[in-house]
Amino acid sequence: MSKTVLLACEKPFSAAARDEVVAIIKQAGYTANVLESYKGKAPLLDAIASADAAIVRSDVIDAEVLEAAKQLKLVVRAGAGYDTIDTATAKAKGVAVMNTPGQNANAVAELVFGMLVYTARSKFNGKVGSELKGKTLGLHAFGAVGRAVAAIAKGFGMSVYAFDPFVTPEQIKAGGAEPASSLEDLYTRSQYVSLHIPATAETKGSIGKKLLSLMPAGATLINTARKEVINEAELLEVFEARKDFRYVSDIAPSDATASTLKEKFDARVLINTVKSGAQTEEANVNAGLAAARQIVGFFERGEKNFIVNK
Ligand code: 3PG
Repeated sequence: MSKTVLLACEKPFSAAARDEVVAIIKQAGYTANVLESYKGKAPLLDAIASADAAIVRSDVIDAEVLEAAKQLKLVVRAGAGYDTIDTATAKAKGVAVMNTPGQNANAVAELVFGMLVYTARSKFNGKVGSELKGKTLGLHAFGAVGRAVAAIAKGFGMSVYAFDPFVTPEQIKAGGAEPASSLEDLYTRSQYVSLHIPATAETKGSIGKKLLSLMPAGATLINTARKEVINEAELLEVFEARKDFRYVSDIAPSDATASTLKEKFDARVLINTVKSGAQTEEANVNAGLAAARQIVGFFERGEKNFIVNK
């Protein structure tokens, strides 16, 4: 039976990626609806009502959206983190949730270095900066993005360590990093720590004073993961206590924290206003097309790979 697939992206894909996603959906004989750059929840509630499947990015798919989605069987997050989707309510309603892990990993990894070089070189203001070569980089989690960051870091001549409770020391070595023995060990060793953890009940608010105080002189924390993993009150305390500490983030913190950072510590902070890690043509195409293909595979061949709410 013909299906309706909604591509709902508050932050749109490139036109080429969008068009290729639509082409895959149409090739399967389905109807493709596109909702881009929408503001507020109403357009999504309206558009999802007739969808059998939806492709989303960081779009919020909560209980209210799922309630409006009377025909929905599958939501594919075109990306890695699915913390904006209420997976439990989806499961209760018989809606499968998938992600497309790894598809935008290289884009995020390249952004890490773009932001790090800019910061280490004093934001190109002419003041003396420092090089990444010879510095120690700690990867907090070693999934697809962590591994891509490790590969690039080698090219910069950095020493790379990683800690991830879900990855064995052998797998970390095979991925080109040295395993740290604990999270504390990782932060103690690393002048640069790059976060690659998802936002979960366990990780939310977990990056604070305890870990950041362990970092050696010239410490820089780079966050291309999620704002929720940071304990913002403690981050500000660390800024007060350490004149050497820098924070580089692809995700803006709460407004109050952002304005304190700007007012008091501007020279040591770099924060993107729009999350840009996955905003490359290549990542849009990789993640978007993978999502569209997963939808066709699910309906036509019963493929259940990448379901995260089994
Ligand atoms: C992800 O989880 O895949 C990244 O954070 C990218 O998110 P975005 O598609 O909303 O830019």
